[in-house]
Amino acid sequence: MAVLTTFEQAEPPVPVVDMAVDEEAAARTVREACETTGFFYVTNHGIPEDLITKQFAKAKEFFDLPIQEKQKSKVNKYYHGWTPMNDEKLSVLGDQKVADTKEGMYIAREVAEGSEENKLPLHGPNNWPAESSVPGFRKAMEAYHKACIGCTMRINRLIALALDLPATYFDKDFVKLMALLRPLHYACVASSPDEGIFGAGAHTDYGMLTILATDNNPGLQVLMDGKWVSIPPKQGHLIINLGDMLHRWSNGRFQSGLHRVVTLPGQERYSTAFFAEPSFKTVIAPLPTCVSEENPAKWPPTTSGEYLMSKYNATHSTYKSRQEGAVQATPSAPSEISVTA
Ligand code: OGA
Ligand code: NI
Repeated sequence: MAVLTTFEQAEPPVPVVDMAVDEEAAARTVREACETTGFFYVTNHGIPEDLITKQFAKAKEFFDLPIQEKQKSKVNKYYHGWTPMNDEKLSVLGDQKVADTKEGMYIAREVAEGSEENKLPLHGPNNWPAESSVPGFRKAMEAYHKACIGCTMRINRLIALALDLPATYFDKDFVKLMALLRPLHYACVASSPDEGIFGAGAHTDYGMLTILATDNNPGLQVLMDGKWVSIPPKQGHLIINLGDMLHRWSNGRFQSGLHRVVTLPGQERYSTAFFAEPSFKTVIAPLPTCVSEENPAKWPPTTSGEYLMSKYNATHSTYKSRQEGAVQATPSAPSEISVTA
């Protein structure tokens, strides 16, 4: 594989989708982005700025707690809760020596113990910190989580139109969506690609789409034509990227771009990812406009839940140890990640 170098550029390399304009026009930009990198910015996304600011403030308060306190919220059997620094080694390129220099907190749609949905793997209560240790944490996170679901549903319409499907196509598949909010805290450790140290190693996201809010520190890079290109923070904008599940669902038409986080010297970094996936039982087989006799299915069908579990299994050390014997994760189908650098 060619050496991957960092490339500095004047302009953000991915398009901006204005969600206030006509949906057909927005969908055209979405299509172009999805067929190339799978990354775009959105503006006029409908999520109030103060919800974004508040969740960042509460995330910081949580991550500032002593480790013993955070440990009380350590991921539970549903994989909701805190994951410590160096829990994941995300790189799929074999270039990572030290596990990701980040910690995170998985927050899902709250599912009550004993409910019907609770019978499914990954569906259960969150592991909130005590209200007294971070007052208002739950309220701020739930408000932002809810707003992100609304934004997902609007972006889904654009994705459907971009795939020549009716705008409402995905609605039925997201009635019981899996929706994980994940505030992240990158340690004050400068990444060093040459030494295999990364905030987050090179990876693709797993599901349908990710909504990413970041602080003002750059760090996110996407691989474009063999070069790592920065996707910098942009005031009033959120970053959207597609995951592997949509890549597979669209029979390879839409891309889930390989990306990583390279942190700069002397600074911590906070970002919050929101991962949206179809309901657990949704069958992921090629969408009707993405398969034909000339373009047969590239992968066998799977389900959203099976697919997601196979991905966690492959990357999270704590997931593997928690699930040993508990969840039968289906191994991933043939790898969809190909790096042609
Ligand atoms: C992720 C991710 C990027 C960032 O959590 O999957 O790619 O900037 N995050 O934190
Ligand atoms: Ni990612």
